[in-house]
Amino acid sequence: MAIRFRKELDGFTAYQQGKPAEAVQREFGLTRIEKLASNENQFGPSPLAIAAMKDELDSLNFYPESHPFELVGKLAEIHGLAPEQFAVGNGGEAVIWNLSMAALDTGDEIIMSSPSFDIYRISATYLGAKTVQIPLKGQRHDVEAMAAAVTGKTKIIWLCTPNNPTGHIASREQVDYLIDHVPDNVIIVLDEAYYDFAAARGNYPADSVSRLKSHDNIAVLRSFSKNFGMAGIRVGYMMTSPEIAAHINMVKMAFSVNRLAQAGAKAALGDAEYLQSIVEKNARALLALETYYDTKGWDYFPSYANFSWVNCRQDSRVLFDALQRKGVIVRPGHFWGWDTWIRVSTGTDEQMRFFIEKMDEVLAEL
Ligand SMILES: Cc1ncc(COP(=O)(O)O)c(C=O)c1O
Repeated sequence: MAIRFRKELDGFTAYQQGKPAEAVQREFGLTRIEKLASNENQFGPSPLAIAAMKDELDSLNFYPESHPFELVGKLAEIHGLAPEQFAVGNGGEAVIWNLSMAALDTGDEIIMSSPSFDIYRISATYLGAKTVQIPLKGQRHDVEAMAAAVTGKTKIIWLCTPNNPTGHIASREQVDYLIDHVPDNVIIVLDEAYYDFAAARGNYPADSVSRLKSHDNIAVLRSFSKNFGMAGIRVGYMMTSPEIAAHINMVKMAFSVNRLAQAGAKAALGDAEYLQSIVEKNARALLALETYYDTKGWDYFPSYANFSWVNCRQDSRVLFDALQRKGVIVRPGHFWGWDTWIRVSTGTDEQMRFFIEKMDEVLAEL
């Protein structure tokens, strides 16, 4: 007799990670490989975080705190919120799953832009909920269509800002529109995983947390992966009403944020100097990429994040393959149905030069 799994897993498409750099290196016999495919911070973690994690090594025989008391205390102080307003997880991704698990029943609906971060859809699908995807309107989220798509079954609207994979943001007016036109029993999540890169730019509404004062259905997601270079240790958090946070915390795994992650994240929060330097290096890398695109006459979304989304006017599968053979890994747009676009993560000056050099070689050969 066949083993029976959850029916939602029939035909399920799990998240597809790009091939690890080591595997590509072996496969093509390359001496140099630059992975610019996962929006990782290429500059190494905060030195303060590294030191704190080293100090914590001797305590790894003990379980971590289930609710990271000190980390949440620090975050609460920084954001002017109560500790009860936080849900911390094993990366922002875990918090997305936890909210989905807390909120979604079979037959419910979520609304998100297309293209956007696929974990919203994947977690909803797993839970038997339907995903309504709203195409962008030019280079913006179509918040009017998102609000109009709300039905009695809608539980969550995911507004990714800056949006992955495009790097564009929702303006203050657009966030206002969504909040004003959506019933308050629908949770609106502002996914700000790339917050610090955007906050450094003038027109990003960087005060989203202040909206929690007046609205109990808003949640703001942040991550330590990008700004603090801690993708490998996994910490992310959501700030929201005590009611939503309590429900997320009911379903989370008991010891989901490990001791190293808690120690590292706490220390990273005190490393303003590191954060400032990352934001500056990122801006320089984006400028190098966007200047290059301009010389090609390519369309791109001016980026508020640590990656850029560009139309190279070539089949993204072909381009991906050709770049990979030369040691550059990017994220091809066909994953999102944007077949001639690619997403390129920022990096060091040298990495940006390498990408441009290899791209020029590939274009000359195609
Ligand atoms: C838009 C967005 N949200 C959330 C995440 C989750 O980040 P993490 O799980 O590394 O904290 C990512 C990661 O790439 C992302 O792009």
